[in-house]
Amino acid sequence: MSLSNYNEILQYAKQHHIMVGAFNCFNMESAQALVRAADAQKSPLIIQTYHAHVDYAGSDFMFAILDVASRHANTKIALGLDHGRSVEQAMQCIHDHYSGVMIDLSMEDYAWNVKETKRVVEAAHRRNISVEAELGEIMNADATYEEIESGYTNAEIARRFVKETGIDCLAVSVGTAHGNYKYQPKINFELLEELVQTVECPIVVHGGSGVSNADIEKMVQMGVAKLNVGTDFFEAYKNALRDGLAAEGRDIVGVMATARDAVQRVAEEKMQILTKFRV
Ligand code: 13P
Repeated sequence: MSLSNYNEILQYAKQHHIMVGAFNCFNMESAQALVRAADAQKSPLIIQTYHAHVDYAGSDFMFAILDVASRHANTKIALGLDHGRSVEQAMQCIHDHYSGVMIDLSMEDYAWNVKETKRVVEAAHRRNISVEAELGEIMNADATYEEIESGYTNAEIARRFVKETGIDCLAVSVGTAHGNYKYQPKINFELLEELVQTVECPIVVHGGSGVSNADIEKMVQMGVAKLNVGTDFFEAYKNALRDGLAAEGRDIVGVMATARDAVQRVAEEKMQILTKFRV
């Protein structure tokens, strides 16, 4: 299949009462692993490329890999920029045929965030490409509970931001964080529910690695649209590579194939939870 945009996938997910995994891809092996997992689990999937990985590889290369990978799949697949840090980077991905882009100016002041996000929305929507933005601060996973709480998304500002920008989905800060958690995440489900119920677009939770299955199930039932997961895949890939390279007599392609299988296993486990209440 060719790439779908986020809206198509998020609508499908809502209809079928599932949450969409937005999984980070960083090379050909991880692209193949994620697409194979989606096929095996009959699950739609948003594959996203982290902004620093796009700087490393080039959005044209990532598009080429994922365009081919998605043609091998029988499920809906989108390709998105994750945490785009500038309008220029988002525009480059739009130019290179991504089907979704995230513009993350959450650290800037509100007026600037609105103005720049709107520029991306206008360019993206002309090409039927979806846009995600962020409000509040999603911290790194070594932050304390107090620090994480200080970055929570304000629901009233979120409602206004979505109306003013016309974005397609909003990433919110409700207790999760990026990376390997130092402290087990405490999600503010009350705030999350308010955001899901009152903000006029689908809600996205980041920092999905290390979140318990029970918490993920709660989010699915609450109608959270999209869960971003990265670190769990990076770790699975790194660990399999390290073990493979340490074993004597392994050829490099065999080692990479083992790492690819490890990523696929983790992706399938996540998808099973995300699609557990499928109707
Ligand atoms: P983790 O790496 O913590 O899973 O977070 C990924 C993410 O939110 C990407 O946007």
